[in-house]
Amino acid sequence: MAEIIRKLHAGDADALDALVSSGFSYPAGSGFLGDFPIWDPRIQVAQRISTGIFGADGQMLSHVGSRRWKYLLPPGAQAVTACTLGAIATDPSARGKGYATQLIRTAIQESEKQKDTFVILWGGEHEFYSQFGFELAGQQYLVDLALMDLKALTPNTADSVRSGFDDRIFVEFLGRRAGPEFLASDEAWLRAHQTVRWFTIDEPFAFVGVGRGQDLPGIVHEYGGDFAGVLTLFAWLNAKVPGIHLMGSSAECLRLGADLSDIEPQALALVRKNADMAWPEAAWISGLGSV
Ligand SMILES: CC(C)(COP(=O)(O)OP(=O)(O)OC[C@H]1O[C@@H](n2cnc3c(N)ncnc32)[C@H](O)[C@@H]1OP(=O)(O)O)[C@@H](O)C(=O)NCCC(=O)NCCS
Repeated sequence: MAEIIRKLHAGDADALDALVSSGFSYPAGSGFLGDFPIWDPRIQVAQRISTGIFGADGQMLSHVGSRRWKYLLPPGAQAVTACTLGAIATDPSARGKGYATQLIRTAIQESEKQKDTFVILWGGEHEFYSQFGFELAGQQYLVDLALMDLKALTPNTADSVRSGFDDRIFVEFLGRRAGPEFLASDEAWLRAHQTVRWFTIDEPFAFVGVGRGQDLPGIVHEYGGDFAGVLTLFAWLNAKVPGIHLMGSSAECLRLGADLSDIEPQALALVRKNADMAWPEAAWISGLGSV
């Protein structure tokens, strides 16, 4: 019997979580949507399209999500639009039938129709994605906080660190001058992350976001606010949990005082050029923009 292709609705959340969590081998008790709530169909997300292929019995067999972003890219914070793909998985019983290929091709066609400059995704299957024109692009560095020149903490600063999401964190996201442009409607999914730990400090305000399930374990992938405050939070994290790493572009890591001379950069993402423009090497997408 024929399969059905349709957009997801809120009632598909559990089926999507089960499909993608098993595709990415999540251990029992954890789930993909807790790490990536941007794909949770119960949460309204602007510019998101989630498409599934369903069997005649209603079982979700395959899924591809897409989210269109405006990106401010260096140099000069040039604005482009790009589409990120995510939550890509096919049920093991339905693999090899062309379902993911069909959904990815449709998402790319839509992105080309919208005149996006790039399609971006994160995934280990480079060979699979290369057939659609995706290539590794960009650079990011992982720096052990223990190797950074961080000032010693005073007992007072250690006491002033608070944990939990703070309204001012999202204000900082809205004010970013590079990377994906967050919209007011992005607050709901940003707050819904279950495995990102947020730490803040006052006067002046600074924050860091650490970890995201198995995707970014022990990794600082977001920070903002007062520069000295960010470094204080790094020092606090480093004293509290050894092995925490900062993820960033070379410019950002150097600005924060990291020594990159012995660190090999990693690729930032798999990028497909829809137009005749190369991904600028210095362009950076922080952890929560890399959905
Ligand atoms: C990768 C995945 C989405 C492919 O789904 P699918 O519906 O089976 O894909 P299709 O049927 O459209 O295409 C399958 C083709 O890709 C190939 N392929 C699948 N995984 C591959 C990989 N890791 N590397 C290279 N090729 C791969 C298959 O061999 C097959 O090729 P063929 O048509 O020449 O036989 C699916 O294997 C999956 O869910 N994996 C686990 C989750 C995951 O890794 N998601 C991607 C990261 S975002």
